[in-house]
Amino acid sequence: PAAESGRHGLLGFRQVETHDRDELVVPEGYRVQVLIPWGTPIQPDGPRWLKDASNSAADQEQQVGMHHDGMHYFPLGRGHRGGDRHGKGNERGLLVLNHEYIDQQILFPDGDEEMTGEKVDKALAAQGVSIVEVARGKDGQWRRVKSRYARKVHGNTPVTFSGPVTEKHPALQAGNRPMGTLNNCSMGVTPWGTYLACEENFNSYFGTEDPDWEPDTLQKRYGVDNVGFGYNWHTASERWDVAANPGEVNRFGWITEIDPKDPRQTPVKRTALGRFKREGCMVTEARGRFVGYSGDDQDGDYVYKFVGDRPWREHRRAGRSPLDHGRLHVARYNDDGSGDWLPLVHGEGELTTENGWKDQADVLIRTREAADAVGATRMDRPEWLAVNPKNKDVYVSLTNGSGWDSAATPRDPNPYGHIVRWREKGGDNTATSFHWDIFVLAGDPAYDEEVKLGDNLFGSPDGLWFDADGRLWIQTDVSNSSQNLPEKGYDNIGNNAMLAADPRTREIRRFLVGPRGAEITGVITTPDQRTMFVNVQHPGEATEAWGEPTPQNPRDVSNWPDFDPEGRPRSATLVITREDGGRIGA
Ligand code: FEO
Ligand code: CA
Ligand code: CA
Ligand code: CA
Repeated sequence: PAAESGRHGLLGFRQVETHDRDELVVPEGYRVQVLIPWGTPIQPDGPRWLKDASNSAADQEQQVGMHHDGMHYFPLGRGHRGGDRHGKGNERGLLVLNHEYIDQQILFPDGDEEMTGEKVDKALAAQGVSIVEVARGKDGQWRRVKSRYARKVHGNTPVTFSGPVTEKHPALQAGNRPMGTLNNCSMGVTPWGTYLACEENFNSYFGTEDPDWEPDTLQKRYGVDNVGFGYNWHTASERWDVAANPGEVNRFGWITEIDPKDPRQTPVKRTALGRFKREGCMVTEARGRFVGYSGDDQDGDYVYKFVGDRPWREHRRAGRSPLDHGRLHVARYNDDGSGDWLPLVHGEGELTTENGWKDQADVLIRTREAADAVGATRMDRPEWLAVNPKNKDVYVSLTNGSGWDSAATPRDPNPYGHIVRWREKGGDNTATSFHWDIFVLAGDPAYDEEVKLGDNLFGSPDGLWFDADGRLWIQTDVSNSSQNLPEKGYDNIGNNAMLAADPRTREIRRFLVGPRGAEITGVITTPDQRTMFVNVQHPGEATEAWGEPTPQNPRDVSNWPDFDPEGRPRSATLVITREDGGRIGA
């Protein structure tokens, strides 16, 4: 209703200022509560979090993971009104959230000192997906409650494969059963109520000490090398030794479908949607079909779209998964503002047997090479996508990058990122062509005069989400090698933030600023839009500006949210409400 909107259309709150303090700030008239930080037992009677990081791997399997990221809220409640704007679902639901990666300095009492099997298992248990039931009490505070749904899907959880690449495929053979989902950055939600956990930097976990090992073409294209990101799991567990167990890495980079309402379901990797460093999967529906948009978050990689081959309800009625039947495409952004979705289908275009593509499974395992072959447009690290519920326009955040050879990546280099949007032909999200433009160039006008922002400046957009009113929420992930540094042009931008945009007027206001070293990522509201959940990831991560935390003193950079002198920083979910009970952002 108009009564709840501000004078400026969709945005009704007063902007908060940038800052570089170890503090979380929301607008005047808003309240914020910290919920389910890393280590919270997923059931009330589970193992307590120990602030010296001495919890075992078995404890961590029953506790909320580390590095909260993409998230959804599934309403629970009596009767058919559970999920609507008036039902019980506004007071009780399942929070399902990704845990992207881990900080071994904070996860273990001895940090990165010598890796052991127990430490690898704890690291695996701290990642993946947490399903936690939460409810609002009479006092207005949200709490984690006892649940028949609560579970963890972590790095050692058994999984199966479905679609053109099955677990029997020769490329997926390894010395252990298929298990685990890892590096779950953003996510998606299907119209049939399941959660899609996406696997991003899966290459980071693998390595080898075999001096004779060299990556093959496929491994190179996905960044697999002998050290990964330095976790050193391969020194304690052969599963992660890419020379000894080369099939294991091919089991990652997929979408994992999880049914949050069935705690006994075995998660399924849906291979028809392709394999890359997938940030997330923004789902919409058009002509009754499933449509899923994804970015491959690597400098110079691509934007993808999967379109179901018939209405998803038909597949469901016949007992088939709509995710196993459809066409994968990759985007080409032409310099004249038009765009095309190029099919990644065996036998079409370049992807023929004569050109060395065996079958559709081969195309999917090598999705990046297939996209190279068809001439997709290189982008500046495509992260989240979002679809405007009012007109079906699609938005993608390009967080930062080198600036490639197209009008869709106009800055070279591009340290601040931008947001590109497009309208599919005829407003139909299953279409194979579109028209695009640049919604906003992020950055600081003091360093780049093309930036049209003022005191609402921001950098490195990552999370994107539309609420039901059509407000676009933008979350930032300035890396800790740039955050608050003048030599990187980031000293006026402050800590990572969440902003809201009105897509019609392009007005943007800063809504929230996070603590030091953290990114802001993952956002969802209850159906009535009066409670918002937002994740704060990796407070206290090593930053160039604030120094390197050590296992002896992990709170040097940040001690959010506990500020316990004996404790350590923890990723957590925020619960944001308005003092007057109104809709968030309005
Ligand atoms: Fe995990 Fe691309 O941010
Ligand atoms: Ca991200
Ligand atoms: Ca990040
Ligand atoms: Ca990011």
